[in-house]
Amino acid sequence: MITRSLIVGCGASLPQRRVTNFDLAKRVDTSDDWVVQRTGIRSRHIASEGETTSSLALAAARQALERSAIGPESIDLIVLATTTPDHTFPATATRLQAELGIRHGMAFDVQAVCSGFVFALAVADNFLRLGQARTALVIGAETFSRLLDWTDRTTCVLFGDGAGAVVLQAVEGAGSVDDRGVLSTHLHSDGTQYHQLWVDGGPSTTQTTGHVRMHGKEVFRHAVTRLSQVAEEAIAANGINADRIDWLVPHQANFRIIDATARKLGIPAERIVLTVDRHGNTSAASIPLALNEAVTDGRIKRGDLILMEAMGGGFTWASSLVRW
Ligand code: ACO
Repeated sequence: MITRSLIVGCGASLPQRRVTNFDLAKRVDTSDDWVVQRTGIRSRHIASEGETTSSLALAAARQALERSAIGPESIDLIVLATTTPDHTFPATATRLQAELGIRHGMAFDVQAVCSGFVFALAVADNFLRLGQARTALVIGAETFSRLLDWTDRTTCVLFGDGAGAVVLQAVEGAGSVDDRGVLSTHLHSDGTQYHQLWVDGGPSTTQTTGHVRMHGKEVFRHAVTRLSQVAEEAIAANGINADRIDWLVPHQANFRIIDATARKLGIPAERIVLTVDRHGNTSAASIPLALNEAVTDGRIKRGDLILMEAMGGGFTWASSLVRW
């Protein structure tokens, strides 16, 4: 028997305000046609004053706990993936811990930008497998809009805000690919690509928050190659073929990246969960938001095999195979 992490529930939260491409076109020199053709994005949710990474994360976490029928007192680990913490320190996860009334265990943030949720899932999974925790909350939450330069049309049209959460519980099992739970995680980083996609501020350099800067074409080129590689890595490590995958739940950066990656893997369009059209790129929140949508509407069912993949600044890239 081996210990494995079972996802026992999920939840999500989006800011109230929905901003369409038409709304953006009133502010910056862009058009609905350009954004839809290049990215597949039609609208995104943008946090208003008072909506923060922690408030979105809290709503997502509460929903995940409710659906798992697990009380906050059982949570002994909180891992929050975010690029947009409420404050430079302490970790936003500790704020969440306090708001949930949890007075034990540990809570910390993980920073891997758009790959953050899969990195956080891997961290929590390893803690559970090693017996250092029994029940974990893993959250991806962002107010990415606060990092945007609203005069830069090449970046400001791409991103949105939101949060998604899952509850993980340590269970014993035979360790086969047919057992429910997190089957594998694969993580990578390549810091030589630091300036392809970055924020030009920070406490140690400019003492400002800074804005997102990106070489879009280079990011696109790397994304398709690395996402298909890391997905193949997950498939090979579990000794299966891509046709066994019931659902691809990709990071939602750009429809063209998702489509090109799925084609390389041979996964048909009807098995891809897509939210990029309505959420834009919500960085670490995009995978749990998509997962929550497909679980809530009944597409993802108990026993389904789910492949998650993501890439982000660093570069970082990651995949996880999960039996729901
Ligand atoms: N509206 C209208 N025109 C625009 C806009 C806009 N919002 N943005 C750029 N343009 C113009 C450019 O100025 C350029 O005009 P020019 O030819 O007169 O110079 C023209 O459109 C083409 O610009 P490109 O940058 O060459 O456009 P491209 O086809 O590369 O598309 C895009 C840009 C959509 C950003 C693409 O490169 C891309 O998707 N890259 C991946 C980036 C990404 O997804 N990043 C997210 C984070 S990383 C991740 O999560 C994987």
